[in-house]
Amino acid sequence: MASMNVVDSSQELLEAQAHLWNHIFSYINSMALKCALQLRIPEIIHKHGKPITLSQLADALRINKAKSHGLYRLMRMLVHSNLFLEEGDAYSLTTASRFLLRDNPQSLAPFALVFTDPTMMDPFHHVSEWFRDDCLSPFVTRNGMNYWEFVGSDDKWNWLFNEAMTTDGRFVGSIIVRECKHVFEGLKSVVDVAGGSGAVVKTIAEAVPGLECIVLELPHVVAAMEGSHENVRFVSGDMFEFIPPADACFLKWIMHGWNDEKCVKILEKCKEAVIGSKNGNGGKVIIVDMVVDVEKQEDKETGTQLFMDMVMMAHFTGKERSEKEWAKVFDAAGFKDYKITPVLGSRSVIEVFP
Ligand SMILES: C[S@@+](CC[C@H](N)C(=O)[O-])C[C@H]1O[C@@H](n2cnc3c(N)ncnc32)[C@H](O)[C@@H]1O
Repeated sequence: MASMNVVDSSQELLEAQAHLWNHIFSYINSMALKCALQLRIPEIIHKHGKPITLSQLADALRINKAKSHGLYRLMRMLVHSNLFLEEGDAYSLTTASRFLLRDNPQSLAPFALVFTDPTMMDPFHHVSEWFRDDCLSPFVTRNGMNYWEFVGSDDKWNWLFNEAMTTDGRFVGSIIVRECKHVFEGLKSVVDVAGGSGAVVKTIAEAVPGLECIVLELPHVVAAMEGSHENVRFVSGDMFEFIPPADACFLKWIMHGWNDEKCVKILEKCKEAVIGSKNGNGGKVIIVDMVVDVEKQEDKETGTQLFMDMVMMAHFTGKERSEKEWAKVFDAAGFKDYKITPVLGSRSVIEVFP
């Protein structure tokens, strides 16, 4: 192997091979997690109340005993990934696997199951094809319709997707209340634009008394919403057409799904909504999204952001933006200033002022 006149040492070649193998097989991390969730392993360990041995776990799972060796190997893999702890001959939960418990209202399990489903994974098999075709996203290349048309046509998927967003919304809402509640203080009303089940504003409404919340969503999402919540009202509509007036517009995980042109349109509608608010104090737009900074951030955060950016490319028409890219969009929509508060891990709260 003397291509390009470079002669690598055996050590370098073996390291390169290991690096590539880990890359090639990294999908197995997602699949092992998915299997653990489908088997409800976190719940079983939690209910056991103390570290659980392999045979107790196998009994509780009621798996085919001849396959216990497979359970051992699955758990070894997940312990290696720091999803479970192995102490002596027994397994226990870590902070990460406690986050997967389904009775936790902020559980990451619905999100994990949605993003490891073939619906979300299949478009990644079509990315190279998409580079050469005229489709807006690999999701369209694969399915012949865009993601939101697909969600609107499949009640079960609509429910699963909204559940994944709802648990994330509760989590984000709780961190906002803890870390930067002031962003909402002094506001009389807020509209959660494309707010799904309104999980974030519901959490915030509980912490900021008297805050009137409106959730604007597509008709199929509003139709699937059950129950009522004090101070939260649903409005069915299209954010590109009209956003109900309020002191502030809140957009969590919306802008990253759309290209710059569409984001400018959404922000222009937000501007009309906050300027049209009866309190008329100029208002603001509050965005929860990522601000990519490959130079300054921790490796782990950048990794998450780059994964999410690829998700936006494969499923939607959006992208994760750097501060410079955000500033360009805000300016094009006629906003004068913005403030980034990085309190959400790989995501930030961005206040934008007209
Ligand atoms: C990624 S989800 C985020 C939901 C919610 N903001 C959250 O983070 O939990 C994007 C949402 O945008 C909604 N959506 C898509 N197009 C829309 C439109 N034209 N008008 C209003 N909502 C829209 C979808 O129904 C979906 O609930």
